[in-house]
Amino acid sequence: MKILGLETSCDETCASVLDGSGNVLSSVIASSLKEHARFGGVIPEIASRKHLESIVVVVDQAMRKARVSSSDLDAIGVTQGPGLIGSLLVGISFARGLGLAWNKPIIGVNHVRAHMYAPFIDRDIVFPFVGLVVSGGHTSLYEVRSLLDEVVIGSARDDAAGEAFDKVAKILGLGYPGGPMIEKAALKGNKKSFSFRCGCPGLDFSYSGIKTGVLYKVRELKKTGKRITRSCVEDISASFQDAIVSDIVAKAMRACELTKTKVLAVGGGVAFNGYLRTRLEQASQSRGIHLHIAAPAFCLDNAAMIASLAARMVNRFGKKIPKESVFFDSLMN
Ligand code: KG4
Ligand code: ZN
Repeated sequence: MKILGLETSCDETCASVLDGSGNVLSSVIASSLKEHARFGGVIPEIASRKHLESIVVVVDQAMRKARVSSSDLDAIGVTQGPGLIGSLLVGISFARGLGLAWNKPIIGVNHVRAHMYAPFIDRDIVFPFVGLVVSGGHTSLYEVRSLLDEVVIGSARDDAAGEAFDKVAKILGLGYPGGPMIEKAALKGNKKSFSFRCGCPGLDFSYSGIKTGVLYKVRELKKTGKRITRSCVEDISASFQDAIVSDIVAKAMRACELTKTKVLAVGGGVAFNGYLRTRLEQASQSRGIHLHIAAPAFCLDNAAMIASLAARMVNRFGKKIPKESVFFDSLMN
């Protein structure tokens, strides 16, 4: 089996070809990040226009790199949501056009779910598992019993983890996207310099408070006439990163404990963060939890995760792919 995957939910135009054994034959990504950087965040209108400009080239490259032609494909998987509506429409319309022209079935794939299954792109899925998605738009925990059968056991009440990284980086003048900038600055900082807290009961997440905490600390420092030096920015970055990572790790461990599950799968852009990866490894090891974190190449938005989940859906359900759960049904949620 060979599947073409398309992903256009935000600012990256992605296409990938996978074979039936989970081998990623190609994964091409064209980012419009540079166009958004000067605005400090993604501008939806620019993102959709960039998708329109890039999609033909990106799909063509993915097919060439994988050395496949349309007749080799069994199906096309495409991100159906959640995401920016204009961006999603480019990918979905393009996929449907290809489906009509090439006479291939189209499989709508939920973006958050694809992040959650990304650790298993190149290996068998071990059910049941606890799924943790930490991205720019979502911070959620799931109890996953079988393919497409999951229960949300924790979610962000306000800002998602990646969003908090991006906003704090903006406050610190580090630029966009914030995650990699904060991680880099934190490497030279002292995580004990400042005390930032993120408290949210149970398995839910709340990171809007910690972002405001950083803002007030910066204002306070400025009021006392202090210059926010590079080393101060590094200390704030390290303290902020430590607080947010500690919260994510603690909740993931608690979720495994509460559900009596010994397998944890982690995906999403924030899972690219080296400090989070190390802390998850340490915590999992000490509790005998089998940790599967998406490979760095498949943490941030990519189409291999879409093609992979589409392939699993075809394998598992054939033509009777069930309607996705209500949590994932809407294009816009
Ligand atoms: O999964 P993703 O590419 O898009 C969404 O589905 O949201 O995640 C993007 C998010 C951004 O907020 C970005 O700042 C964050 O992932 N991110 C990181 C790192 N690299 C990207 N956060 C922390 N540390 C990183 N190294
Ligand atoms: Zn994503």
